[in-house]
Amino acid sequence: VRKKSRRLKRQREEEERIKDRDLFKTVEEVFDSFTMGHVYRLMKKGLIWDLKGVVSSGKEARVYWGVNREKRDVAVKIYLTATAEFRKSIKKYVIGDPRLEEAWRGGNFRTLIYEWTRKEYRNLRRMREAGVRVPEPLGFSGNVLVMEFLGEKGYRAPLLHEAAASLPAEELARIYDDVALQVRSIVCEARLVHADLSEYNIMLWDGKPWIIDVAQAVHVQHPLAREFLERDIANITRFFEGVLGDHEPPEYLKEAAECLA
Ligand SMILES: Nc1ncnc2c1ncn2[C@@H]1O[C@H](COP(=O)(O)OP(=O)(O)OP(=O)(O)O)[C@@H](O)[C@H]1O
Ligand SMILES: [Mg+2]
Repeated sequence: VRKKSRRLKRQREEEERIKDRDLFKTVEEVFDSFTMGHVYRLMKKGLIWDLKGVVSSGKEARVYWGVNREKRDVAVKIYLTATAEFRKSIKKYVIGDPRLEEAWRGGNFRTLIYEWTRKEYRNLRRMREAGVRVPEPLGFSGNVLVMEFLGEKGYRAPLLHEAAASLPAEELARIYDDVALQVRSIVCEARLVHADLSEYNIMLWDGKPWIIDVAQAVHVQHPLAREFLERDIANITRFFEGVLGDHEPPEYLKEAAECLA
């Protein structure tokens, strides 16, 4: 009995320690109690040790810089509780994923956003296992996803669209080739299509392009996979033609398209 009460005391202290953090309070002002419960769960697991600052705050998600128990930098992506607009916008990606289909039909926003978060985690894993350069997924709970942080000392790495203007053409050509190779690996090895690929969802870190934002990625057998891939490839070629001028697209892009056939 004494052992148990000591354990409970330690647990209570641990809870206090977490709740005392300033950033926990900041997050608390933005998110509902369900979300806070998930952040809290991840903190107890050590996947998040501290939350340090906001990296990005968009209409669908917020990304925080944090550290985990091993003192490693992590990115914590928190999906905002879904709106009717979100439900509409993800409709075309839902087909073929039974759990997501069910959540979508069920009409419960929270369940839907949880499935969406889980899908991003699984897509990251699947791509990573296939050798695609994506942030390492570390865990998730509810609408909160923890992954490797791309950047240093809390400063995120630049997006391709931010960095391109200051890069020499030969470097850009090398990055173009590498991005095309990533696209090929996504399709031919991971058997997925990113479906929202552009200079806004590629980060430059360590001199190399990293693919991010993969929640909407679909299996190659998805009925719209071809359309999505064509759009991804069009975005990439448009962007690099814009910064490089007339430049032959890498063969990898053609090979990626052939993998869908
Ligand atoms: N692993 C990461 N490390 C560092 N920064 C990241 C990481 N993942 C995302 N970011 C930053 O957060 C931003 C938003 O992330 P992401 O593209 O995944 O979300 P999003 O769905 O586009 O969000 P929204 O549409 O609400 O803006 C990115 O543009 C990037 O600046
Ligand atoms: Mg994005």
